[in-house]
Parts: sequence; C-alpha cells; structure tokens
Amino acid sequence: MNATELKRQVAQAALAYVQPGQVLGVGTGSTVDLFIDALAASGVPLAGAVSSSERSTRRLQAAGIPVLEAGEVERLGVYVDGADEIDPRGHMIKGGGAALTREKIVADLADRFVCIADETKCVDVLGAFPLPVEVIPMAAAQLSRRFAAWGGQARLRAGCVTDNGQHILDVTGLRIHDPVAFETEVNQWPGVVTVGVFARHRARVALIATAEGVITRQHD
Ligand code: 5RP
Repeated sequence: MNATELKRQVAQAALAYVQPGQVLGVGTGSTVDLFIDALAASGVPLAGAVSSSERSTRRLQAAGIPVLEAGEVERLGVYVDGADEIDPRGHMIKGGGAALTREKIVADLADRFVCIADETKCVDVLGAFPLPVEVIPMAAAQLSRRFAAWGGQARLRAGCVTDNGQHILDVTGLRIHDPVAFETEVNQWPGVVTVGVFARHRARVALIATAEGVITRQHD
C-alpha cells in the first residue's frame, strides 16, 4: 500500500471521533488534507472548525465547512492533526508544514488531541526528523548556537515565512529523551516562538495506519 493510501485510511478512521454539530479543531498537512476531504464526503454536519493554518482554512472553506476564529470558542472537544514523529507515549515532533505555532494554539483549546499518522512516523525516541522551531528572525543565529551546544545543527528553512510572518529553524542531530523537559527549556529561550516538540500537548489518541489496517493507541 502506498503512503497516500495509508494516509487516506487513517484520515477516514478519524471520522469516528467527530460528533455532528460540534466545533472541531483541525490541524495541517497532507494527512489532514485527506481528513478534510473525508469530512466533506461524510456529510457529517459541523457547527464549524477552528483551523491551524491558512492552508487548512482554504480547504475547509472549499469543502463548505465554516471556519471560526480561535477566539470565538472557549473549548474544543477534539483536535485532529498529523505528526512528523510520534513516540510510544504520544509525544510528537510537528511543524514539517511550518504550522506548528497555530497547531499548538488550537491543540491547547482541545480536550483531546487525536493524532493521525502512518507507521513510518512512529519512533522510540524523538529527533530523527529535523526539529522545526519557529523563531523571530533576529534571534536565529544565537538560537542556532544554543542548539549547537546541545549537539544540534540548526538550519534556516529556505524561503519559508510562516503564517505568523516568522522563520523556521530545522534542527538535526538531537535525541530527545525527555520531551517535556526539552519543550519547557527551549520555550524559555528568547526569540523562540514555538518549538515543534508537542509533549505538553501530546496525542491522547494516536491512529496509526499500517499495511494491516489502522491501529488505535490510547495515551492516558
Ligand atoms: C504541519 C505538521 C504536520 O502535521 C506534519 O508535518 C505531518 O504532515 P503530513 O501529514 O503531511 O505528513 O506538523 O506543521
């Protein structure tokens, strides 16, 4: 089965977490694109969606799903999003699509993060995927030196300006054994907008597509 077919399967499986009439949190990426398509095809009526990117907003609106501002809702029941890596406890690396800041904001509104991923995203220890970090441009050089002191090599993502008008550093060479401590520390560094470790906002449910079907993991 090819990668797109796996993504399509897991996107379809996520419909089980969507309640008619609810406002849904919606992530960003190629798996989420397929989830939005599945939502549209399902005909499940939603009160609306809070989107984590301009990309997802456009796709939701094209599907006829009303998009609400984050400020218009107090809580969301469910946030559905993909991941670049996910560990056995539901900690993730995200931001391959440069939407990590808004993704974390919408995830923070939600009672439950439902991660949709294929099995190639599953790792024991986070860090093989280059860690995206959204940064204020003037701090990029000094933040790169901080990562270097931890054994990481930071590279500015060429040509990338986020929906928030900021830049992305992609950091290779890290092994993130304690994702909560790592996220907490890097969040304090001046110039960091958002670090792409999602440990405080980890997946409570992970739907993992495999060649044998979709596996559901609960991370309580
Ligand atoms: C975007 C993300 C995505 O969830 C992540 O990059 C996975 O994307 P895809 O579904 O295309 O593999 O964090 O910022």
